[in-house]
Amino acid sequence: MEDAFGHRISYLRVSVTDRCNERCRYCMPEEEQAWFPKEEVLNYEEMLRVLRVGASLGIQKVRVTGGEPLTRPGVAEFCAQIAQIPGIRQIGISTNGTLLSREEQGVTLAARLFQAGVRSMNVSLDSLDREAYRRTTSRDLLPKVLEGIEAALTAGFQNLRLNCVLMKQQTEREFVPLLKFAAERGLLLRFIELMPVSSREVLDEQNFLSTEIARRLIEQHTGPLTALPDFRTNGPAAYWQVPSTGQKIGFIGAMTNLHFCESCDKLRLTSDGKLRPCLGSYLEFDLRERLRQGCDDEELADFIRSVVARKPKEHDFRQNYQPNRRMIAIGG
Ligand code: 5AD
Ligand code: SF4
Repeated sequence: MEDAFGHRISYLRVSVTDRCNERCRYCMPEEEQAWFPKEEVLNYEEMLRVLRVGASLGIQKVRVTGGEPLTRPGVAEFCAQIAQIPGIRQIGISTNGTLLSREEQGVTLAARLFQAGVRSMNVSLDSLDREAYRRTTSRDLLPKVLEGIEAALTAGFQNLRLNCVLMKQQTEREFVPLLKFAAERGLLLRFIELMPVSSREVLDEQNFLSTEIARRLIEQHTGPLTALPDFRTNGPAAYWQVPSTGQKIGFIGAMTNLHFCESCDKLRLTSDGKLRPCLGSYLEFDLRERLRQGCDDEELADFIRSVVARKPKEHDFRQNYQPNRRMIAIGG
């Protein structure tokens, strides 16, 4: 599938729930908590059907997101079902990490995800200081996240990435501890610019820290970094390297990197069954209605193609974008 700008679409991010057990300031402020009613959320069978049809159209990579995807029961079994779909080559999950070490019959959730075929995992980690972590997420769960990361490493995850959202007067203190933590465990650390995905309010001069400035501040500790233009993961992160240690650091500059959308290959399925061609655009198309009205696979395929055809050239975040949905209701 190709969109009007030559983006080849091969990646579907599936949000399995809008619920989360944390309340990050930039994502889900405490006061906003109207969850989708249960009947509006797609069941796993419905999601798998979309994935099967998507795979027949060229979707090869799937990422399971939320809200916090691990709050939805049966998510590991869901991943195992995804792995059975012909054409799907890579399954990843984005999590806040708080539930990875939870055990069921002596097996951690991390291990069950690995057994299900999940190979790529992104864990959000904004701070290694317990009090700062609590301030950002409104929950005192840093020890659980650290346990979760260990559980994931023990389970066999090798592609473990840490995502840290850049916040002025906060992340500056985290650079050294996070770099050290990631290096010691062989994790890939990435810094993400704050985006206006849930509310515009957090994204003001007081909070916004660009990837460019973050990199310069990091260089004060590490010495000059070297750009790695040819090193890519799945997304738009730009990677740099600490010459003395070889440690790679990713920078995701959704706001300041003008080339951010150039190689976008993604579609998003929200937990309430809307297909969104872009995180930073109002466009969304109702798949749930069609699924529940009994459309056949050919109609579903046509629908997916029509959404791809309407994928915008780039996001609208720089155009004073006011989100129409919370991030949690889209999927990170
Ligand atoms: N800006 C940037 N990143 C965000 N995330 C959530 N909200 C925002 C925002 N406003 C990130 C989380 C997590 C991923 C799912 O999205 O930190 O890493
Ligand atoms: Fe939950 Fe992740 Fe949003 Fe934080 S950023 S509230 S952990 S979904």
